[in-house]
Amino acid sequence: MKTILITGGAGFIGSHLIRLFVNKYPDYKIVNLDKLTYAGNLNNLKDIENKPNYEFVKGDIVDSNFIQDLFEKRNFDGVIHLAAESHVDRSISNPTEFVFTNVIGTVNLLNSAKHVWKDNFEGKRFYHISTDEVYGSLGSEGIFTEETSYDPHSPYSASKASSDHFVRAYLDTFGLPSVISNCSNNYGSFQFPEKLIPLFIHNIKNKKPLPVYGKGENIRDWLWVVDHVRAIDIIFHEGKTGETYNIGGFNEWTNIDLIRLMCKKMDEKLGRTKGESEKLITFVKDRAGHDLRYAIDSTKIKNELGWEPSLQFEEGIELTIDWYLENEKWLNNVTSGDYQKYYDEQYINR
Ligand code: NAD
Ligand code: DAU
Repeated sequence: MKTILITGGAGFIGSHLIRLFVNKYPDYKIVNLDKLTYAGNLNNLKDIENKPNYEFVKGDIVDSNFIQDLFEKRNFDGVIHLAAESHVDRSISNPTEFVFTNVIGTVNLLNSAKHVWKDNFEGKRFYHISTDEVYGSLGSEGIFTEETSYDPHSPYSASKASSDHFVRAYLDTFGLPSVISNCSNNYGSFQFPEKLIPLFIHNIKNKKPLPVYGKGENIRDWLWVVDHVRAIDIIFHEGKTGETYNIGGFNEWTNIDLIRLMCKKMDEKLGRTKGESEKLITFVKDRAGHDLRYAIDSTKIKNELGWEPSLQFEEGIELTIDWYLENEKWLNNVTSGDYQKYYDEQYINR
């Protein structure tokens, strides 16, 4: 039986990945290591928490002694590393936290893997999950390939770029067998409502203002989270050591078009008059250093590993809106407590 460590498995993408691996690979032991920050929520994993091949470990990747101890006690065959501070706006308010978790936390995992695997890297794999934001911002032309130079702008993307460099450095210097993927914006169920899509679904439902940064002209390339974790599965098992794979949906939307689409669909679903929710759109001060456009070229993973998105965006956004409307309890739970404080600091008087 293989033992796989997945970090950040109580978060948005991590919980979808844990669900996929626990159900698909009964002969793997899946260990979910998560600190349970505001973004980590064990309710995301209710359906699989009692499966015999699943185990949750609460812990902080920044705590090097704890990580070292865990690696020494458990003979991990592979690591899929997702744990991170992931929200750009929070990285603008508190950059240091991003250095601790995203950079030092990643280096701690690399050190422990190197230490316990050093006599035999055979069959081992350290898979680092990264983002398209490391490539910086595009103008109206162009697309990010695996060869695009790194040019991060936010403290979040700078910390992710740094962690990517450390993963490659540990391969080049120590031979630690790694693979990296850089994905575009994910959407789907269980995403914390600080990110655009779940935040705006929540606000439309509650008839609260929709805070559009700047003029809403920024462009993102949206991918259904289930398609991202399908890609992670394929790369973990079939990707080549030392390679980078870009993952994206060839699905670019300006924020304002996406927001109008969500308003239209929610008017229909909530039985509101046409155009009612659009009136909630409020243009607010732009995000500092706001990247204009991201677009991922995922030709390599398609050609080499046969992965393609399975779902069209119109269908995916429909499923996603339905999920948040049907899972009011989940949304109410995560928006209680500290959420209101965060929301007020981020948006009141913006
Ligand atoms: P998320 O914020 O929803 O979840 C992050 C998880 O990491 C949470 O469960 C949190 O508790 C855990 N965590 C945070 N700090 C930790 C620490 N110090 N020790 C242990 N656990 C800790 O994030 P997400 O959106 O699911 O993103 C997961 C990964 O995918 C991140 O590495 C992110 O950079 C990357 N990524 C995200 C997207 C996206 O659109 N969301 C796109 C591309 C790449
Ligand atoms: O591209 C991948 C990245 O996508 C991931 O690495 C990050 O973890 C993830 O958070 C996401 O980053 P973005 O900054 O693109 O996502 P966010 O949902 O925060 O914002 C999407 C766009 O919407 C962006 O142009 C900013 C804008 N926006 C966002 C919020 C929260 C608004 O206009 N208003 C808002 O209130």
